[in-house]
Amino acid sequence: MAHIIAIANQKGGVGKTTTAVNLAASLAVLKKRVLLVDMDSQGNATMGSGVQKNDLLYSVTDVLLGEVPIETAITKAEVGYKVLGANRDLAGVELAIAEQEGREFILRQALKEVEQDYDFIIIDCAPSLSLITINALAAVQGVIIPMQCEYYALEGLADLTQTIDRIQQVVNPNLEIVGVVRTMYDARNALTRDVAAELEQYFGKKLYDTVIPRNVRLAEAPAHGLPVIYFEKSSKGAVAYLNLAAEIVKKIKKGSPA
Ligand SMILES: Nc1ncnc2c1ncn2[C@@H]1O[C@H](COP(=O)(O)OP(=O)(O)O)[C@@H](O)[C@H]1O
Ligand SMILES: [Mg+2]
Repeated sequence: MAHIIAIANQKGGVGKTTTAVNLAASLAVLKKRVLLVDMDSQGNATMGSGVQKNDLLYSVTDVLLGEVPIETAITKAEVGYKVLGANRDLAGVELAIAEQEGREFILRQALKEVEQDYDFIIIDCAPSLSLITINALAAVQGVIIPMQCEYYALEGLADLTQTIDRIQQVVNPNLEIVGVVRTMYDARNALTRDVAAELEQYFGKKLYDTVIPRNVRLAEAPAHGLPVIYFEKSSKGAVAYLNLAAEIVKKIKKGSPA
């Protein structure tokens, strides 16, 4: 059965989408069957996978509205994995499903139809805790949290753990933080090093050993519609995300959820 994982953090700009896209690509390079689900109406994960968000015949919106079977809406990207894309239409879904019974579980139900086809389903979340994000968090076994190593990252921690607790109580009792990944790491910066150490204390074993460095190739690759591994294979960013994927696969082999 697929490992279904959301990449989430209520803060914007911490590297959620970059992690979702590059983890999906790296897992695919490791011969895993991967589906990337874009649950952000900005559609950055879609575009970053080389799928034109505005040319989508069907998107995750149609799936959430129950208009097409999920299989119909999944597109084959040319980057080694499949994509259930999103665009600005997703912003309108919230209202459309607000009164519907079981509204939190629409994505979960839909994924049941395809989960046997994949080893990993990675869901990229928007920063807000909307009904869309709740659908994502209700559908997964675990959350990977990207954290930028800056002072404010620590301030947001309490909020984040509270959110996860709430989701556990209301929609997904099995939800857990499976891993925390440090992103945009700059080893020359003393504050970064301090925060990284504090995260280690706070999260212990859940903190991945792999650290994602600040790397300009990671920021450039999406403009070409490519995960960094296809943009510049030997860049530090590409190597780091491959290492992260390998670390996750290894942890799973040892019985951890990711
Ligand atoms: N490790 C990194 N090194 C350099 N730039 C990065 C890195 N990770 C993300 N970025 C850039 O930072 C910005 C925010 O990242 P993004 O993944 O979109 O965050 P989020 O999805 O959390 O909002 C983007 O422009 C992205 O290209
Ligand atoms: Mg994003």
